[in-house]
Amino acid sequence: MSLPRGFLDELRTRVSIVDVVAKKVRLIRKGHEYSGLCPFHNEKTPSFTVSAEKGFYHCFGCGAHGDVLSFEMQANGLSFMEAVERLAAQAGMEVPQATPEDAARSKRAASVMEALEAACKFYEQRLRLPEGREAFAYAERRALSEETIARFRLGYAPAGNALKAALLRDGWDEATLVEAGLVGRPDDGRAPYDILRNRLTFPITDRRGRVIAFGGRILGDGQPKYLNSPDTPVFHKGYVLYGLAPARAAALESGRVVVVEGYMDVIAMSQAGLREAVAPLGTALTEGHLAELWKLADEPILCFDGDAAGQRAARRAAERALPELKPGRSLRFAAIVGGKDPDELIKAQGRGAMEAVLENARPLADVLWEMTVEGRDFATPERRAALDRDIFDLCAKIKDEGVRGHYQRELKDRAFALFRPPRPERSFSGPRRPWRGKPPEPGAVATPPPASPREARANELQLAALLTVRPVYALRHLESLSRVRIDDGAARAYLDALLGVLAEITEDADDAVLAALVDARVPEAVRGPHSEQAERLRFDALEPFDLDSRIADLVATLKDRALAEEILAVQAAMEREFSEALWQRLRALRQERERLRGLDGEA
Ligand code: UTP
Ligand code: MN
Repeated sequence: MSLPRGFLDELRTRVSIVDVVAKKVRLIRKGHEYSGLCPFHNEKTPSFTVSAEKGFYHCFGCGAHGDVLSFEMQANGLSFMEAVERLAAQAGMEVPQATPEDAARSKRAASVMEALEAACKFYEQRLRLPEGREAFAYAERRALSEETIARFRLGYAPAGNALKAALLRDGWDEATLVEAGLVGRPDDGRAPYDILRNRLTFPITDRRGRVIAFGGRILGDGQPKYLNSPDTPVFHKGYVLYGLAPARAAALESGRVVVVEGYMDVIAMSQAGLREAVAPLGTALTEGHLAELWKLADEPILCFDGDAAGQRAARRAAERALPELKPGRSLRFAAIVGGKDPDELIKAQGRGAMEAVLENARPLADVLWEMTVEGRDFATPERRAALDRDIFDLCAKIKDEGVRGHYQRELKDRAFALFRPPRPERSFSGPRRPWRGKPPEPGAVATPPPASPREARANELQLAALLTVRPVYALRHLESLSRVRIDDGAARAYLDALLGVLAEITEDADDAVLAALVDARVPEAVRGPHSEQAERLRFDALEPFDLDSRIADLVATLKDRALAEEILAVQAAMEREFSEALWQRLRALRQERERLRGLDGEA
């Protein structure tokens, strides 16, 4: 019986592979994965691992490998449908009964796949017959070994309608060949014809290695260089990655997967021993592609040509990935300089050169930053503000709050460094304003010039935001801040969230630690109608310098004078405490955090 498309995916996401395996194997958590003694062979030390995120298990001892369904089947000796029913029951899902149409459709799909397999065999044979001699010579000219040709099942589509004739002779009906995308039927009633003629053929497979379509390259120069099968019931171009089936095992083993642009690149890399390469079929990377890639590695490497088109493709992929980023899950970008593609690079300089390109892959954040500032100058405040806005808009596309916060901070820091060319480290001990450096006498704060209601609200907003980046400050004001009346909804929501988080902190933490806590928890705490605006506030407040003067300026405009004085007194005290030594400690802490994060990444 056949199940509707999507049901199994839903089942796999609903049942946790860790829970299912844990019924049979005692699992111990190790970083992102779990490990235990393999239930499929005898062992004393654990070589069986389960990845909750990727949804599969793998045994490094006996090679057992699969997803939650195959585990249930193997561990309990069940058939596929029995395993599906058992897991569905656990997940509270009803196994859909196949309708007659479903059954008919899956029968059609099966016969279409059989026809494609028959075509693949036909093409492979023809490559080795005299009529395929030119195509074989072409493949050899492209430095493909016989072993590689066999492994990727390259073939030759003869001129004329040889494929159609052969398959009809073997009992296939024309409708199936048309449905399989092997034969085209012109609208004008002319006779159906072979889609690929006189081309080197590249079978395209699904993730299990079953042929679902073909690409065909012209032998030598000429247009179109490649022809691909049309979309069919079993082939949807935007989801398929060429080379996925052979790359899977290699990628899972090395934790690396590389996306290149063309068929020949995948094959050349594989022949050079870099087997974890895949390629989209001449289209931009889709979300479907990304999801597939992230099942194989946390940071797929996209390797595009160094030319303008390649760079455009990299940008598009970077933007497409933003909404899907998760903690630990990103992309890296490798570029080959000099206008070569991986196939040409390997041919000219060998595997080492390609490895070097991959090792120099740059993080997504670098690429986004470059995309954003390239070709612009920031000589005026308006242009700098435009950059701020663009950074904000870019980050707003990231759905994951944690990742978004870190991107905002990172890009803001870079923008700040860009606006301020290197200058001596600033000392926070010296007074920058006449009134700073000593605590003001009570009552010494000048009455602010009257602010319009709009200004007053803007000030409150900014103050709330600024306090969030100087949490020690806010912590000391917990009492008085909770008394502040702030009318603006977003500022209020933000301040409430901040105070809520801070109120739970009991230990005597310093700014770096608090900042990390606030970063991690405040965005979650601000929910509701104001969350987006509040996020914007936090973003605006991420400016790393001159915070104290900005807070002071804003405080000076506060209507509540008692509160203003209180804040200024604490600020003055902090000014003294925040000696150079403290700042050094802060920097050291940040570096340590970066280092630990780096180690985390390597592990
Ligand atoms: P490239 O032109 O970079 O191809 O197109 P390539 O793999 O380097 O080709 P060789 O080395 O000259 O043989 C990249 C991919 O774009 C799609 C194919 O999937 C190709 O692998 N493409 C390209 C087409 O579909 N049609 C074309 O006419 C050209
Ligand atoms: Mn090429």
